[in-house]
Amino acid sequence: MTDLVTRVEQICKEAIAELESAPDLPSLDRVKGRWLGPDGELTKIMRQLPQLPKEVRPLVGKAVNTAKVQLESVLERKRGELELQRLMPKAPVDFTLPGRRRSYGRLHPITQLIDDVVRSFRRLGFAVAEGPEVEDEYHCFDALNTPADHPARDTQDTFYLDVPQNRPHPRFPLSNRWLLRTHTSSVQIRVMESQQPPIRVIVPGRCYRRDNPDATHNPTFHQIEGLYVDRGVTVGDLKGTVEFVFKEVLGGDVRIRFRPHYFSYTEPSYEIDFSNSLVRKMGREWLEIAGCGMVNPVVFENVGYDPTEWTGWAFGFGIERLAMLRYGITDIRLFFENDVRFLTQF
Ligand code: DAH
Repeated sequence: MTDLVTRVEQICKEAIAELESAPDLPSLDRVKGRWLGPDGELTKIMRQLPQLPKEVRPLVGKAVNTAKVQLESVLERKRGELELQRLMPKAPVDFTLPGRRRSYGRLHPITQLIDDVVRSFRRLGFAVAEGPEVEDEYHCFDALNTPADHPARDTQDTFYLDVPQNRPHPRFPLSNRWLLRTHTSSVQIRVMESQQPPIRVIVPGRCYRRDNPDATHNPTFHQIEGLYVDRGVTVGDLKGTVEFVFKEVLGGDVRIRFRPHYFSYTEPSYEIDFSNSLVRKMGREWLEIAGCGMVNPVVFENVGYDPTEWTGWAFGFGIERLAMLRYGITDIRLFFENDVRFLTQF
């Protein structure tokens, strides 16, 4: 009867050898079935146990149990190994290679629109200029001929910084605060201070106003400013330029019209109304889109240009407004929430 014990030990050895050499999970399961399954070799011996004489039964039973425990532990370890193997790459992998799913992100819709407008102005020979977002009162207001008591300068409209300037402009010593620029027009002044005419620049940039956010207002927004200074510049040049760019960016069916308006830095000044199928879709015929005018001689004097020699025009418009129109968006805040579900649509 110790034969049976030897037989069990034999089975155990063979089974372990087979389990160890199983190349994959399906063959491991086949091996398991052969030894431990309902018709497995070890199971067969277990079934014989009740028929065995009392004296040998415990011995054989013990041998079978030991074998089972051994086999199951080998089985479990081997299964783990094979599972890991299945997940591992078949061939050597260079983990520094770029992934197959290319998702580098994309440009924000506002940036895309700015790029389009800039590209269009470049074709007309305009260069791109930049200026600081933290600005002084002089460049944002005084140099632009905006009087000290103008409502735009009110603390209710402008973000002022707590730090006073060390050296305010000598002609406007009381305007000594730093602020977040409320429009890109301040860059007109900086450009003219730093170079002589002729000038053809556009200035895309971020601006700030103390607006409570709602569907059409956000304390941060973007503008594009344009400035053209040369001899003999006319309103006709302004109109032609604006029309060209809007048609390029928003489609050939664009019409524009100029309405008289007031800005301290231009004279005469206009508001530009704009019409196309997109505006009509909103149930309107015209939409005011920009401010503009002929550069006020006072502004030329402020930057040291001779106003009897130089003429120019300037304009400024809000990017978000145009982007909302272009993409059919009714809430400006979407541009600033940076929800990827919104952004990936552009
Ligand atoms: N700065 C004006 C604004 O913030 C827009 C503007 C109007 C810009 C007339 C100009 C201009 O350059 O000439 O609404």
